[in-house]
Amino acid sequence: MHPPLYKNKHPTCVDAIDALVKCHDEHPFAKFWGVCTEYKHALDQCFRQEKKTNSVATIKLAQLAGLLERFADVRIALSKSAKPFVEGLDFPKTCLPLLDDEGEWRAWRQVGDPVLHIELRRWADLLVIAPLSADSLAKIAAGICDNLVLSIVRAWDLARPILIAPAMNTVMWDHPFTARHLAVCRDELGMHVIGPIAKRLACADVGLGAMSEPADIAAEAERLLAGRPLPEGADDLGATAQLPGR
Ligand SMILES: Cc1cc2nc3c(=O)[nH]c(=O)nc-3n(C[C@H](O)[C@H](O)[C@H](O)COP(=O)(O)O)c2cc1C
Repeated sequence: MHPPLYKNKHPTCVDAIDALVKCHDEHPFAKFWGVCTEYKHALDQCFRQEKKTNSVATIKLAQLAGLLERFADVRIALSKSAKPFVEGLDFPKTCLPLLDDEGEWRAWRQVGDPVLHIELRRWADLLVIAPLSADSLAKIAAGICDNLVLSIVRAWDLARPILIAPAMNTVMWDHPFTARHLAVCRDELGMHVIGPIAKRLACADVGLGAMSEPADIAAEAERLLAGRPLPEGADDLGATAQLPGR
């Protein structure tokens, strides 16, 4: 039996996560039954009703976009895994359309057509990757570029700043691969790293791994943009880039 926490009120996501953890603490046998379905259901409903997803970091993407567009033109490229998480989020209209792998191939029909990841690379003065998953972190460190986001990174002119905001489960964060991959990004590629921060994660683990707050990421992005003189001809490159929409 579980405490009747959800009988009369709609819980907040944090309540639901707390309850799930409490349930597992109080009912050690729950682990033999799998995830506590009542609380899992409550959590799902909570996310849906609040137009949120079950990845806390991705919930914050629209919020981050809103903060960034106060001082910059913003374009958003999504990985395939990120797409389900952004359903229902309200992005600023100026950031639309959201760009993805399919869009990259739709835009290219024949030799001479613009290639989206190259156009984005030409256009942008700063690349912010938030949240950055363990998977993409590893791929970046290895030079892999098998989707739109990673192709932008691989084609990036490293004279321009890249800001990465890792977000992952605490155990993934503590894994020795993470330190190794981050060292490549920071020391070899000159990327700026922000976070992660410690909190109770959506998977109910507690510890380092949550994406830094959008306001902190936006402030760091603004600082990087302000501190970086544009390379000669950068405006011309931006002006000639062919991007979808707008
Ligand atoms: C609900 C859910 C949440 C996830 N959250 C994270 C996360 O916060 N950090 C992470 O590194 N991977 C997370 N993963 C695993 C990634 O989705 C997976 O490694 C994927 O390959 C990442 O692809 P991408 O880097 O191209 O977005 C999550 C998976 C699921 C199903």
